[in-house]
Amino acid sequence: MANVVVVGAQWGDEGKGKIVDWLSERADVIARFQGGHNAGHTLVIGEKVFKLSLLPSGIVRPGKLAVIGNGVVLDPWALFAEIDKLSGQGVEISTENLMIAENTPLILPLHQDLDRLREEAAGKAKIGTTGRGIGPAYEDKVGRRTIRVSDLGDDETLEARIDRLLAHHDALRAGLGAPAIDRAELTAKLKEMAPKLLPYAQPVWKVMSEMRRGGKRILFEGAQGSLLDIDFGTYPYVTSSTTMSGMAATGTGMGPSAIGFVLGIVKAYTTRVGEGPFPTELEDEDGQRLGERGHEFGTVTGRKRRCGWFDAVLVRQTCAISGVNGIALTKLDVLDGFETLKICVGYEIDGVRYDYLPTAAALQAKVKPIYEEMEGWSESTQGARSWAELPAAAIKYVRRIEELIQCPVAMLSTSPERDDTILVTDPFAD
Ligand code: IMP
Repeated sequence: MANVVVVGAQWGDEGKGKIVDWLSERADVIARFQGGHNAGHTLVIGEKVFKLSLLPSGIVRPGKLAVIGNGVVLDPWALFAEIDKLSGQGVEISTENLMIAENTPLILPLHQDLDRLREEAAGKAKIGTTGRGIGPAYEDKVGRRTIRVSDLGDDETLEARIDRLLAHHDALRAGLGAPAIDRAELTAKLKEMAPKLLPYAQPVWKVMSEMRRGGKRILFEGAQGSLLDIDFGTYPYVTSSTTMSGMAATGTGMGPSAIGFVLGIVKAYTTRVGEGPFPTELEDEDGQRLGERGHEFGTVTGRKRRCGWFDAVLVRQTCAISGVNGIALTKLDVLDGFETLKICVGYEIDGVRYDYLPTAAALQAKVKPIYEEMEGWSESTQGARSWAELPAAAIKYVRRIEELIQCPVAMLSTSPERDDTILVTDPFAD
């Protein structure tokens, strides 16, 4: 049975929500394996629009098991706010359909404080984070001083964890001019949360392993995008987790052999939120037009996304690193009506041609994109459900992308509606 991992192959916001929803109908288990509530996945199902940040997309479908894996950083208050919001939209969420790994680290209010304080102190050098406390929470995880879900089950353990955590944070806060943490208040908040959160806690690795042996189909739902990866992204302008496909295994407690098909989600142009290098960024009318036609505003923070032409160099690179078997190309319709389209096919740095983005920041700062021009199309591709409904120039554009990124298109999405999809290869097929 092929399990599927979905990852964003650019800087996030590739339209993963719709594709994951489409696939989740065919899956039994849908698992988040990294990131936290910095993600923003929009699902359009019939008349209803669901906006998810932390919960796996499968939660809106009855009969599916949604899993939050240990690779995630979990803000329990944000979790229950999201559960309440979805319940108000008629989605039933209980321990029957939601499971959280007991070794998942928590995001606390002090992580959000630190995220904000650091960004403010950094001034122009800020990362442009979502302010959700993601980075500081991951730091505490690898610093071996985090509070994990299971720690809420025993007062003595919890007190010891809090001691360790505050010894670190109070020192940091003093340096940043912030007051020390009110220990009693934090402890009370966590003890109040414990009976709400603990019923969802499970040894996810075990449940997933049993599900796999029982022939259940698993969909691993990645968040953010490959170029925000902590190792392979445009460091330090990245998020603090591994956003590549390999994380699906360690972020849920399964071996790499559990992963069957890796589906990379790729937008037909490029966007990014926050600071950092962006070789094909357009600050002209074309960029403006992409932003308006593509409704490029962040789901989580409402920030305007930066827009640019399709960068085949970057997508080829991320597809290689994540071992992408096929891509889902989204938002092709946003390009309708452009007379000419450009695709970045290489970079020039100090007169030398590169076919990849080098790691050195000094080189990244000097990247000049080398473009290939392609004829646009005047017809609408919106809502197309077969290749026959696409103009010849649009098909040529898609084929050229496949060639340049060395990866085939498995799915093509032509509108936010779930049925406006052209399926080439079913990722779940054996
Ligand atoms: P953080 O994840 O909040 O630490 O933010 C680090 C960087 O990742 C910033 O540039 C954010 O804008 C970006 N980022 C985080 N989550 C997302 C996402 O879901 N979509 C797009 N960008 C994101």
